[in-house]
Amino acid sequence: MEQKPFMAAKITDRVYWVGAIDWAVRDFHGYATDRGTTYNAYLIMGTEPILVDTVKAPFRDEMLARIASVMDLSRIRHIISNHSEMDHSGCLPEMIEMIKPRKVIASAMGVKTLRDHFPLVGELTAVSDGERMILGDASLTFMETRMLHWPDSMFTYLADERLLFSQDGFGMHLASHERFDDGLPGELLLNEAAKYYANIILPFSPVVSNLPSRMEKAGIRPVIIAPDHGPVWRKGAGEIVGRYAAWAAQRRTPRAIVAYDTMWGSTALMARAIGEGIARGGAGVKLMPLGASHRSDIATELLDAGAFILGSPTLNNNLFPTVADLLCYLKGLKPAHLIGAAFGSWGWSGEAVKQVAEALAAMNVPTIGEGVGVKYVPGPEALQRCAALGRAVADHLKSTYGA
Ligand code: FEO
Repeated sequence: MEQKPFMAAKITDRVYWVGAIDWAVRDFHGYATDRGTTYNAYLIMGTEPILVDTVKAPFRDEMLARIASVMDLSRIRHIISNHSEMDHSGCLPEMIEMIKPRKVIASAMGVKTLRDHFPLVGELTAVSDGERMILGDASLTFMETRMLHWPDSMFTYLADERLLFSQDGFGMHLASHERFDDGLPGELLLNEAAKYYANIILPFSPVVSNLPSRMEKAGIRPVIIAPDHGPVWRKGAGEIVGRYAAWAAQRRTPRAIVAYDTMWGSTALMARAIGEGIARGGAGVKLMPLGASHRSDIATELLDAGAFILGSPTLNNNLFPTVADLLCYLKGLKPAHLIGAAFGSWGWSGEAVKQVAEALAAMNVPTIGEGVGVKYVPGPEALQRCAALGRAVADHLKSTYGA
């Protein structure tokens, strides 16, 4: 029997996954994708077959081979673009040329965004929020999800299968041959989904908070959620919607993240003393030295931690570069309801502690105290001040969130 290297995967009787697996990608615009990712494209079979999204351009042949394993490309009648970012639209221009579809469908903003990306030939069909469309024997509902996470983003719902194509929403960066959530360990799924939320979706939490009621109003009650990255939710479709609601609320726990970098070990010593103070004060704490912790892992920890304590040595009157990088990244993610504190050592000027405190204030993260600064090397008195700061952080966390 002929062995085809790339096969479509059956999701339901009429929906196939025809995407690509990227085992190599390790950076996704600043997010460390340690486990690679998938670019999910789907085929809705029927009297007028529909391709939902495409894949990143270098993976075109893999997608074409998977499509060919279930149908001739020329039989596809329509293409839906739920999201214009190029990991999903990268093959769209070529697909349009090869398939010559009757309709290429996107949100109104998606039509504009796609035209800003590519010199696309032919007409694009803009659909509005809540619009229903019959394509052959497929009944589709479109729901705009502006800023989840681009202005063009939308969901497509296949009503008779109760299947939601959710583009980046409910996705995760995880390369795997398992196509369904129930084939993967629950803890892995939860960790990767949380990391994705913390690094991609978090700034748009107000949009997420409104999703359940908007979906209900539009009659979108999925039992299967098929995102554009990672596994299809079959067993856990309800659970991931619930998790998104909880993450959007940014509920916090009595736990602190102490992130820091160090030049000669002084700021690291201060971090350890602060950590001891927090732990002895009865709150949870995790130290994340920037030499060993990626910014996107710190963002993930801050999804439910209640405090963000940040330490920087002063280098040439400035923040340490890794600390500046972290602050820049986190500022864009707009975490809410955190409290913070600043600390660091210095030699002859000592601006960094104040700069960390100012950066936290600019992120709407109120700080406990004025921070702790130490000249050169912390002695016993300075370490006591660090431990006292830790204790104050723990007291605040416990009084706010309970022990
Ligand atoms: Fe997976 Fe926003 O692209």
